[in-house]
Amino acid sequence: MSRSVKCAPGVAGLLACSLVLAGCVGGAGGGSEGAAGLGDPYFPKAGNGGYDVSHYGLTLAYDPGGGRLTGSAVITARATRDLSAFHLDFAGMEVAAVTVEGAAADFRRDGQELTVRPSDSLAEGETFEVAVRYSGSPRTITDPDGSKEGWLRTADGALALGEPVGSMAWFPGDHHPSDKAAYDIAVTVPEGLTAVSNGELRSRKPAGGGRTTFSWRTEEPMASYLATVAIGVYTVTASTTEDGLPVYVAVDPTQAAAGRAVLARLPEVMEWAQDNFGPYPFSSAGAIVDRSEDAAYALETQSRPVYPGAPDLPTLVHETAHQWFGDSVTPKSWQDMWLNEGFATYAEWLWAEDEGGATAEETFTGLYDHGVERYANLWDFPPAKPTSAAHVSEVPVYQRGAMVLHRIRQTVGDDAFYDIVQGWAAAHRHGNADTRAFTAYVEKAAPDADFDDIWADWLYGEGRPELP
Ligand code: TRP
Ligand code: ZN
Repeated sequence: MSRSVKCAPGVAGLLACSLVLAGCVGGAGGGSEGAAGLGDPYFPKAGNGGYDVSHYGLTLAYDPGGGRLTGSAVITARATRDLSAFHLDFAGMEVAAVTVEGAAADFRRDGQELTVRPSDSLAEGETFEVAVRYSGSPRTITDPDGSKEGWLRTADGALALGEPVGSMAWFPGDHHPSDKAAYDIAVTVPEGLTAVSNGELRSRKPAGGGRTTFSWRTEEPMASYLATVAIGVYTVTASTTEDGLPVYVAVDPTQAAAGRAVLARLPEVMEWAQDNFGPYPFSSAGAIVDRSEDAAYALETQSRPVYPGAPDLPTLVHETAHQWFGDSVTPKSWQDMWLNEGFATYAEWLWAEDEGGATAEETFTGLYDHGVERYANLWDFPPAKPTSAAHVSEVPVYQRGAMVLHRIRQTVGDDAFYDIVQGWAAAHRHGNADTRAFTAYVEKAAPDADFDDIWADWLYGEGRPELP
């Protein structure tokens, strides 16, 4: 979008604009256009500059027959500087109208960028509401690594998966993990179908025209890649744990028999995870189980992970661990992915150890000695420095990430290690953190230990590290 003429600063940039502030169109403070991306090292266009979202109110209606989604997104945000315009990430769909603070706003689209120019500029610190009305057939996005995300049509409905950038296919927003927000997601679907999302089901009401509206709420901050909507025929089991936590499990009927035994262990896995990682960070839990042909991978969607077919126990443990590592403590950028996947993978090792299977030490040694026979790319790159965006979900991020954690455990011993794991989850609960914050945290927690070689060789170093 071109800048407004009076504020068009050319080379002089912001300075020229602020000098002619009083003359700026729209008055409230002028400013300039917020950045189109946050400069993430792997997904530079993801997210936007100049504002911080606190709440998304999504009102959606979906027709599985035609694959058509009608939506309204009401986004509450705070300007972090004076803004004459700002960007939202939104790919595909047709935008019917945009308002800011209730007044019609100009907008322009260019690829995944939806640029909004409010009739009145926004002043730094101001909280504002932007509403976007849209419709169309939401798209499936192919990631740099070839996997599918965004909006996936399923045998009986649809499934939204958002890691790393798929959520821009079904709602406009600040689609970078660093901007977490609360959500209200209402989905209207034909009678007989269920719409499942994150958090708690607030109501289920007839919507007229033979349709039902399911209204979901997530109060704890959520990164947009963890938002989901699953529409289809589901067998729903709503229960409560001994601690009073609501558990909502939605299973595709074709998966019910195969999934029953493992899903019945969810409360036990949650209990175990709390013993190891500290208090569960969200106010509900559960699972969404679709068919294996509906999605190619599981995803730790907040409070309610998605499984492609009946999950096995290690996958249930993995996605449960992500609720602490990824969902509550969220990476600052996609470079910090190993903080998600290393912890979730290490949780699988710990579970096996506690269940009387291989100890984590045995798993580590097996990987170190023979891992490359199973994972040809195990030593291809260090976990904290994936080669490119196509590599952020590859083996080294998971397995070498877990190996970093085990090297820390070898160095400090079990008691200090579990203190570090729980302390880390507590220190950044409901927030964001990066790799530097992690290494600093570990160093502070064990001031007498020397981690330099672990960081240099295991976290950032190329190739297979030497063991001391
Ligand atoms: N986070 C998922 C899991 O391990 C896997 C995954 C799916 C993923 N899509 C991704 C990881 C994109 C990184 C990037 O449970
Ligand atoms: Zn994972």
